Amino acid sequence: MSVMRSYFSSLAALCIVQCLTSHLAVALTNITTDKSALLALKSRLTIDPSYVLWNNWSDSTSVCTWIGVTCNSRHQRVASLDISTMGLIGNLSPEIGNLSFLLSLNLSGNAFHGVLPRELAKLRRLEGVDFMFNNFSGVIPSWFVFLPQLHFLNLRNNSFTNLFIQKSISNISKVEMLDLSFNPLGGEIPEKIGNLYT
Ligand SMILES: *[C@@H]1O[C@H](CO)[C@@H](O)[C@H](O)[C@H]1NC(C)=O
Ligand SMILES: *[C@@H]1O[C@H](CO)[C@@H](O)[C@H](O)[C@H]1NC(C)=O
Ligand SMILES: *[C@@H]1O[C@H](CO)[C@@H](O)[C@H](O)[C@H]1NC(C)=O
Ligand SMILES: *[C@@H]1O[C@H](CO)[C@@H](O)[C@H](O)[C@H]1NC(C)=O
Ligand SMILES: *[C@@H]1O[C@H](CO)[C@@H](O)[C@H](O)[C@H]1NC(C)=O
Ligand SMILES: *[C@@H]1O[C@H](CO)[C@@H](O)[C@H](O)[C@H]1NC(C)=O
Ligand SMILES: *[C@@H]1O[C@H](CO)[C@@H](O)[C@H](O)[C@H]1NC(C)=O
Repeated sequence: MSVMRSYFSSLAALCIVQCLTSHLAVALTNITTDKSALLALKSRLTIDPSYVLWNNWSDSTSVCTWIGVTCNSRHQRVASLDISTMGLIGNLSPEIGNLSFLLSLNLSGNAFHGVLPRELAKLRRLEGVDFMFNNFSGVIPSWFVFLPQLHFLNLRNNSFTNLFIQKSISNISKVEMLDLSFNPLGGEIPEKIGNLYT
């Protein structure tokens, strides 16, 4: 029990540090940061079969006009990224964590692979993540439960092998829709995550 408690408090401390850092990061970022984050994502693609992003995500145009990108009207920052079903192959660059105003991220129906960069944990505003039908591997990290606004998490049909969401913290998650099916998950899956029974 005390082990669990100290595990929990160290995660909470980690969260506080991350929250502070991410507030600082928000203050230091602007639309130029968003643009370089997306150009970094583009540079990690090994295949973009229809050259959609290759042609459209051009350094000389405003990031808010790019295919798949929606900016919020108030801050003119990237609020949503939907590059689903484009046949993209690549891994996810850590710069994605600099999209401080991102609410929704849809990469479904591509072939992104590799582990999820831990910088994703900086996206404190994220409400929805759809990574269905990709080939991400490694662990499904615990920080997902600390993303304060996350309601929707679809990781169906990937190559995740481990779930790193501890039983003791699983009930603080706000996730309302969770799909982990069709992953080669080993180990124990918590019976309950947030309000969901898995
Ligand atoms: C963004 O911030 C950088 C410094 O961090 C600054 O050089 C640049 O001019 C800013 N860009 C915009 C569009 O505000
Ligand atoms: C990118 O796509 C958008 C939406 O289709 C279009 O309005 C814009 O002109 C395109 N930009 C370039 C550089 O092709
Ligand atoms: C964005 O993210 C990368 C990698 O996480 C980092 O090196 C960089 O300094 C960040 N900030 C800006 C303003 O691009
Ligand atoms: C993500 O994109 C796919 C394909 O375009 C779509 O079917 C799905 O509903 C989207 N996910 C979310 C959460 O909107
Ligand atoms: C998972 O996705 C792959 C392609 O991305 C597909 O071939 C396979 O049939 C899918 N499996 C399930 C169970 O949906
Ligand atoms: C997915 O990644 C694994 C290695 O992590 C690889 O063995 C497998 O062939 C990949 N599957 C696809 C459909 O790319
Ligand atoms: C989670 O629920 C258990 C019992 O269901 C409770 O003992 C524990 O304190 C709860 N944890 C949090 C962080 O709310």
